[in-house]
Amino acid sequence: MNKPASTFDAEIVESVRRLVEDSRSGTDLFNAMGGVHPIEIKRALVASDEQGLLKTVFAGLETRGPTLREVKRDDNPVLSFWPFTSDCARKIAALAEGYESVALLGTPTVFSAIRETQRDNVILFDSDDYFFREKATEGYVQCDLLSDALTSFENNFDLVIGDPPWYFDEYISWLKAAICLIRPGGTIVFVLYPQNIRDTARHETKQILKTLENLLDGVRSLALAAEYETPSFEQIELIQNGICPTNWRKAAFVSGKVPLQKAYRPIQAKPVRTNLWTERRIGCGRIFVEDVASDNSVFLQTAHPNHRFLSSPSRRDPSRKKANVLSSRGHGLTCSHPRRLLELLNDVRVGSDIEKIGNQLDGPSGELFQLIANDLWGRFITV
Ligand SMILES: C[S@@+](CC[C@H](N)C(=O)[O-])C[C@H]1O[C@@H](n2cnc3c(N)ncnc32)[C@H](O)[C@@H]1O
Repeated sequence: MNKPASTFDAEIVESVRRLVEDSRSGTDLFNAMGGVHPIEIKRALVASDEQGLLKTVFAGLETRGPTLREVKRDDNPVLSFWPFTSDCARKIAALAEGYESVALLGTPTVFSAIRETQRDNVILFDSDDYFFREKATEGYVQCDLLSDALTSFENNFDLVIGDPPWYFDEYISWLKAAICLIRPGGTIVFVLYPQNIRDTARHETKQILKTLENLLDGVRSLALAAEYETPSFEQIELIQNGICPTNWRKAAFVSGKVPLQKAYRPIQAKPVRTNLWTERRIGCGRIFVEDVASDNSVFLQTAHPNHRFLSSPSRRDPSRKKANVLSSRGHGLTCSHPRRLLELLNDVRVGSDIEKIGNQLDGPSGELFQLIANDLWGRFITV
């Protein structure tokens, strides 16, 4: 039998064993794993040669391609867009009732749910204008919460709700932004990510709770759970691993009140690397190119040795780490000349441009370009 690759893997296998003994499987089991990704669960079970557990856990969730799949919304992998389910977004929106002014940090689905009820004293701060680019939307402020000074909104809000990407340094920077925006005496509600999303997350969430307790009074968990839809890029990565996409992700909410003398409790946030990604639309899909050249000998190649799709959305995945081109549909590529790729993408206006541009590139790079562009063009994709 293969040995589990790490202590963390061994812990995953043991937790799975206990849950299976308790008659749990599928999404119900994933929900009880404290955020361990189903792809990680599968990988750990395969590495330990736990065929019995594997069969039980993934029963009814196996997929065998290729199949045609409809993409209902093209989500952003660079900015970690993990959307709340519409039911959950409505429940979060209800938290805002009774507050005069509300700031939403990185929660466009909650913003949309609140706007359905015609409230106008709600502002969404988010980098990604995907939902709002067709028409100017009152109340939407496009900004980078890691680096932009939000001084014109300082002390403006009674309630700040935030769902930062699930990385420690980004989380603390977002808290700093929340503290800037909130009025003394106001309330902050943030998602707290689960303890098992990676081996360091237990320690990180402890540190986050400590920070919250230093900054806020009456820190507590809410009864409401954050429930997520699986974003488009991750759906395809799950299929790539032979797993049928399900809405498996959940997290907790924590809240606390800002003291009346908030200035006495400053927050130290480490600077986080600036976003160097530029987005282009190709038909219905979205492609993101990072302005950092890879050392490829060819112009364009897949980041994964065998597939044009990544096998995990995790930033720790070796292919995801290498990729300087990502798509809303799970592609991961490396490109030796990202600026040239962006120029070529500017020229894709109608479907027939894809072949023309592909033909300008060297053989394999041109073929890959056409494959990816055609994957993104329509509402359907074959995986
Ligand atoms: C974890 S998702 C949360 C989405 C939320 N669950 C929802 O359903 O609306 C993170 C959100 O923050 C935005 N975001 C990520 N990094 C950001 C940054 N540095 N500045 C501003 N917004 C950012 C993303 O565009 C995305 O909407």
